[in-house]
Amino acid sequence: MSKPEKTQEARHVAIIMDGNGRWAKRKHLPRVMGHRKGVEAVRELVRSLKDTPVECLTLYAFSSENWKRPEDEVDDLMNLMRKFIKSDLPEFIANDVRLKIIGDWQSLASDIVEMLEDALAKTAHGSRTLAVALNYGGQAEIAQAAAKAAAAGEVTERSIAANLYTADLPPLDLLIRTSGEVRLSNFLLWQAAYAEMIFTEVLWPDFTPEHLQDALDQFAGRERRFGGR
Ligand code: IPE
Ligand code: IPE
Ligand code: MG
Repeated sequence: MSKPEKTQEARHVAIIMDGNGRWAKRKHLPRVMGHRKGVEAVRELVRSLKDTPVECLTLYAFSSENWKRPEDEVDDLMNLMRKFIKSDLPEFIANDVRLKIIGDWQSLASDIVEMLEDALAKTAHGSRTLAVALNYGGQAEIAQAAAKAAAAGEVTERSIAANLYTADLPPLDLLIRTSGEVRLSNFLLWQAAYAEMIFTEVLWPDFTPEHLQDALDQFAGRERRFGGR
């Protein structure tokens, strides 16, 4: 009898958390309510990580293009970020979650930068990583990594990858986007080269740990070839 095949597990999952605005609109609520409910979905998902093989979850929270939104929406998103770090940091510490921030986060408001620095220091030894993309753009990330590689005298795929924000993370296995949009919106362009992708109609505030489990089950059944045969 042949040995049962070991099903593949996703070590690194990334999510484009989209659809907060449409969720609120459908319920005739202000947009900010969609963003608030979206934060709750993040909290539940992070809590559920311990029951999955996922070592790293990377979440797209604010893109470098999201500054184009009306000022009051940007303010709401930044205030939610402040609240989230404050309320959830103790839980990250208790649950062994290491927070990582990717993107140009050091140019955010100084109080947010301080809160994030504190949270990074306090969670530095966590065994599972929650990477949050803040003021993140994939093209800028690649350009910056290429410039650093050039300054060090060697521009290769390896040297660029070593200078990406994600250099210390496992390779990206699975990329999920909610809300039915089928595009990357400048997220993890380099890292997505051979990631499996799942696009779901579920709006982000409705995304539950069961939806993640369903995506992981789909991933387990995918055949990855990486160009080989
Ligand atoms: C995602 O929801 C949250 C952020 C981009 C910060 P949206 O606000 O983009 O929601 P839709 O796409 O308008 O429904
Ligand atoms: C991508 O969603 C950014 C985040 C989820 C943070 P957007 O809603 O900004 O993307 P587009 O504008 O529809 O491409
Ligand atoms: Mg959107």
